[in-house]
Amino acid sequence: MLREHFPGLNQRVHGKPLVYFDNAATAQRPQAVIDAINDYYINHNANVHRGVHFLSESATDLYENARLSLAKLLNAPSPKNLIFVRGCTEAINLVAQTFVRSKIKAGDEILISHLEHHSNIVPWQILREQTGAVLKVIPMNEQGELNLESIDELITEKTAFMSVVHVSNALGTINPVKTLIAKAKEAGIPVMLDGAQAVPHLKVDVQDLDCDFYTVSGHKMYGPTGSGILYGKAEHLEEMPPYQGGGEMISKVTFDHTVYNAVPAKFEAGTPNIAGGIGLGAAAEFMMTIGMDKIAQRDSELRVYTELALKQVPGLKLIGTAAEKSPVFSFVIEGIHAHDVGTIIDHYGVAIRTGHHCTMPIFQYYGLAGSCRASLAFYNTEQEVDVLVDSLIKARKMFE
Ligand code: ALA
Repeated sequence: MLREHFPGLNQRVHGKPLVYFDNAATAQRPQAVIDAINDYYINHNANVHRGVHFLSESATDLYENARLSLAKLLNAPSPKNLIFVRGCTEAINLVAQTFVRSKIKAGDEILISHLEHHSNIVPWQILREQTGAVLKVIPMNEQGELNLESIDELITEKTAFMSVVHVSNALGTINPVKTLIAKAKEAGIPVMLDGAQAVPHLKVDVQDLDCDFYTVSGHKMYGPTGSGILYGKAEHLEEMPPYQGGGEMISKVTFDHTVYNAVPAKFEAGTPNIAGGIGLGAAAEFMMTIGMDKIAQRDSELRVYTELALKQVPGLKLIGTAAEKSPVFSFVIEGIHAHDVGTIIDHYGVAIRTGHHCTMPIFQYYGLAGSCRASLAFYNTEQEVDVLVDSLIKARKMFE
């Protein structure tokens, strides 16, 4: 059973078996990830890339092997294409402040989409303030899909960069990223994909996608919080200036001048999140052992089942009904505030997220302050979906 790998699922809340449907906020961790972190702290605890002593070398091996596992998961050409970061937020800020900032001038345009998380909006607004760049937005429709026809008009000779979410955290829409990338490439525009919600559900192949940058959040893919990956094409990583200065990212320092370390160390200033990186490597190995095809198949079974099951709840309206979706369900229930729904069903053991899900512009489009969001992972079950539906029906009755 897939669930047995996840000790966190086997608990009761408010006296009821936990139904964990807040996976888009953060997933549960398999025992293999917890063990890898414990093993590092108990048996290998030392700093990496610094010591000649046994423990430092073994910690460095574990850390670099984790990078290798992540390169395999993403089919990156080399582990050197991967920079360890705190998560997608840091990855996007890093690219905005190095690759893009070093190239952009006032009036140049950055293209994002209406489906972005705040972490793929605000870094570009900061860059706009710093440089005078212009931020343009690919519009969405009622289903929560991007309007692809608009792209030809949005791309101009001033477009300098495109940064688009692969899978929407709020609605679950899987964007047609290959089409977006093809359109950008025709115009010679580099593209970054925010993969926070894609990697836990889809087989991601960065070479096949041919994106310039791809971002990964560790805790959404069953790894530790505060861990993540920025994938970049080698030529970009070589040419970009560093993000932060400090230890690890240097090869020689004098008071007059510093020679930076080789990629990827050039972007990893300071003692890294060693346990986090090792845990993230264990998460990648775990996912490859389960198999991304199996994960995607289970996701799709759960999505179909949940879509049908939620129809039983009177007054429930799904927000975002894209044809291509991950098992993420945003919804509102007539006459009940989303926070009330979340609080009531918590008492039946069901954990969902309520609010704007860090995507205020999406909810501005729908004229809503927010929604309830049930986000499933491959370890969830149809029985848990039934518990969700029952608890929603009970919540609705309370407000009748
Ligand atoms: N971005 C995370 C979510 O969607 C926190 O809940």
